[in-house]
Amino acid sequence: MDLIKDIDIISAEEAQACDFKTTPDQNTGKTKKLYIESYGCQMNFSDSEIVASIMKENGFDTTSDFHQADVVFLNTCSIREKAEQTVRNRLNHFNAVKKNKPEMTIGVLGCMAERLKEKLLEEEKIVDVVVGPDAYRDLPNLVAVAEEGQKAVNTFLSREETYADIAPVRLNSNGVTAFISIMRGCDNMCSFCVVPFTRGRERSRDPHSIVAEAQDLFSKGYKEVTLLGQNVDSYKWSPEENNKARLNKKEDGVSQVVNFANLLEMVAQVSPMLRVRFSTSHPKDITDEVLHTMKKYDNICKYIHLPVQSGNSRVLELMNRTYDREWYLNRVRAIREILGEECGISSDMIAGFCTETEEEHRDTLSLMDIVEYDFSYMFFYSERPGTLAAKKYADDIPLEVKKRRLAEIIEKQHQLSHKRNLLDLGKEQIILIEGTSKKSKEELKGRNSANKVVIVPAEGLQIGDYVKVKITECSPATLFGEVLEINPSFS
Ligand code: SAH
Ligand code: SF4
Ligand code: F3S
Repeated sequence: MDLIKDIDIISAEEAQACDFKTTPDQNTGKTKKLYIESYGCQMNFSDSEIVASIMKENGFDTTSDFHQADVVFLNTCSIREKAEQTVRNRLNHFNAVKKNKPEMTIGVLGCMAERLKEKLLEEEKIVDVVVGPDAYRDLPNLVAVAEEGQKAVNTFLSREETYADIAPVRLNSNGVTAFISIMRGCDNMCSFCVVPFTRGRERSRDPHSIVAEAQDLFSKGYKEVTLLGQNVDSYKWSPEENNKARLNKKEDGVSQVVNFANLLEMVAQVSPMLRVRFSTSHPKDITDEVLHTMKKYDNICKYIHLPVQSGNSRVLELMNRTYDREWYLNRVRAIREILGEECGISSDMIAGFCTETEEEHRDTLSLMDIVEYDFSYMFFYSERPGTLAAKKYADDIPLEVKKRRLAEIIEKQHQLSHKRNLLDLGKEQIILIEGTSKKSKEELKGRNSANKVVIVPAEGLQIGDYVKVKITECSPATLFGEVLEINPSFS
């Protein structure tokens, strides 16, 4: 999953390191106010939209000012130690606020709630409510319990919950792009990763509810949806597995088992004007069928987030990624053969995993040179309690070495991003305008199919327009374009 950067990353984006999202001001006449801060991955942000929806049904409008809030939730991430530290600092801050406003309820949701459970309530006494990712339906009840001064914890992990029937309240929305969760949990056991423990078993959501959500978004003016899961390629829905008979009906036009390629096609057919993206693809599971489906539909964006983690086969084995360097490079070759050079590919990289040698680290750098990633999310290894790696291997690479290796990986990616951007110069591309540029109000920002940001002059354009542009300039991180045509026709 793409991560909103946390403070383990040393890169140009470090300044935005402790990025979190908050709730907007809603005023639909509800009597109480809810403030949510969301950390971590897109799935967590997507979950906050489900939480806002559940709370809205129970009398809460959201607010952007926590001083106004009756209830404050932190939807947390456990992926690296620093991510948890950031949340602890925020909790201390909210506790200081609570001293003057004792009636305010503070809740920890998400992955840290799941990992630490009652500890947050009992040992640390820094919160009133602790709720794991599969128990959000219980939130209104738990808030009421906490208001009575009782212990309010639910960290039950479900094998079925997908929140399929809950229409998310879109938070921080630009009205153009939206996330749709298609599955929850993860059945892989990457040895470094806490997610299987915090999110539970993998389960796929009913494809009808996914298509209905995409249709609803399109009818409300949205132009792009991103299908989210920890490992979207293992999406699988069947009536047997899900104990529902609806898909048995042949007239639905849906085969008995829906795999990720089938789902992608179903969502792509909502409208040629609705772009479809997805994240994250796992190198062991991404199939040629998915690549061919991407090729078949112009509105499926030509971009794949395919985290490699390491370029060395021994390290990959220790990481329990279940593929090796050769397998990964073969998958990249298949992407290039089927989708061509223009398909964007990005990655996640971990520097300084247990026992990694200098030579093995150089294998990561050489793999990056071969693949030529458009961009990457880069981290140094952070041991997580309870994971396979924490149990089996010593976290033996000194911090300075981890940081130096990470800096080398970042420098390599910087060069590759620039090289890839230079290839776009002079090309004509369709971009979708998402918002104003950070630097100037006279410029708007859009994204091309390969997920690269393209800056264009704002004149005559609106957010939500498709624009045909010619790429005229680039920096390592950004493309700049001139407008050729606004809302060109889609055949
Ligand atoms: N499901 C996605 C990853 C989700 S976590 C996948 O399999 O690719 C996002 C990224 O965080 C991972 O890809 C990994 O690069 C990084 N990460 C996870 N655990 C980590 C740890 N213990 N230390 C450092 N980085 C970690
Ligand atoms: Fe973690 Fe691996 Fe699952 Fe990704 S696939 S969430 S890295 S266990
Ligand atoms: Fe996401 Fe962080 Fe949990 S990356 S799944 S919020 S541990």
